[in-house]
Amino acid sequence: MKMPPRLLPLYQAELIDEVVGQLQSGKEAEVYVVRTGNDYHCAKVYKESNHRTFKHRTQYTEGRQVRGSRRGRAMDKKSRYGRQEQELEWQNTEVEALFLLGQAGVQVPKAFTFYEGVLLLEMLTDRDGDPAPRLTDVEITADQARTYHLELIRQAVLMLCSGIVHGDLSEFNVLVANDKLYIIDFPQAVQATANNAFQIFERDLKQLANFFGQYDPDILLTDYPKEIWKLYQNGKLKPDSPLTGRVLHSNKKANLKAVLDEISDAKAEALEKRSPKK
Ligand SMILES: Nc1ncnc2c1ncn2[C@@H]1O[C@H](COP(=O)(O)OP(=O)(O)OP(=O)(O)O)[C@@H](O)[C@H]1O
Ligand SMILES: [Mg+2]
Repeated sequence: MKMPPRLLPLYQAELIDEVVGQLQSGKEAEVYVVRTGNDYHCAKVYKESNHRTFKHRTQYTEGRQVRGSRRGRAMDKKSRYGRQEQELEWQNTEVEALFLLGQAGVQVPKAFTFYEGVLLLEMLTDRDGDPAPRLTDVEITADQARTYHLELIRQAVLMLCSGIVHGDLSEFNVLVANDKLYIIDFPQAVQATANNAFQIFERDLKQLANFFGQYDPDILLTDYPKEIWKLYQNGKLKPDSPLTGRVLHSNKKANLKAVLDEISDAKAEALEKRSPKK
């Protein structure tokens, strides 16, 4: 196809040889299939900020460190410069997250390079070598729903172990490549230390549970977010931490009862000792 103007700098820098076609034109970006030598990759071109909704941006940016106070102030002011800075920050968030998470072993496409506002990515494919479908586009069984759900919970745990919460995890941002699930689309990712990170994490996992719950309603009864977050906050979360999917409220009561029983036993024992022996 004809070279889109935004991809021209990559062609001139010999990073790509040809633009083969356009995948989806999403809310935030356009994704193209490009050829470099014999390899096919994806090129994600971020839309200009004025084409994009900045709704809910504050909750996403919160907790993210902005290096250099001038940038921070500019971003706060929503000036033209601020807008540009925010745009770069948004793009960098995705690039940084992809590099970091790829290294941590999270199933994400490899990020090759970021050039002139375009991200060159590994193209995920199905068995025929075509671009991989989104989770929302494939037929799955109840069995697969359970397996996939647990697989994505593990991926979310692994991301949290790297200090990142996706922020838009859903059947639209998971690709199915040869039965393996890959997570994409990270511009809105937040650091797990942000004030509202738990709410975002919980929403991410609820979205997944709601989707998979269509195939097996039992999935709707699971509750992983609080359990995972508690381990994370206590510094105990590991990629393979055992998880139940249940929050054991009743356990607390049982423990409280055990403590009360012990107190009353101890009291009885003390009284018995004190009471004069005949
Ligand atoms: N690495 C990849 N391999 C194959 N297809 C991809 C890859 N990255 C993105 N895509 C395709 O491009 C679409 C848009 O990508 P992405 O979700 O990153 O951008 P977006 O602008 O947020 O899109 P949307 O608003 O639709 O979520 C994806 O739904 C997927 O179909
Ligand atoms: Mg997307």
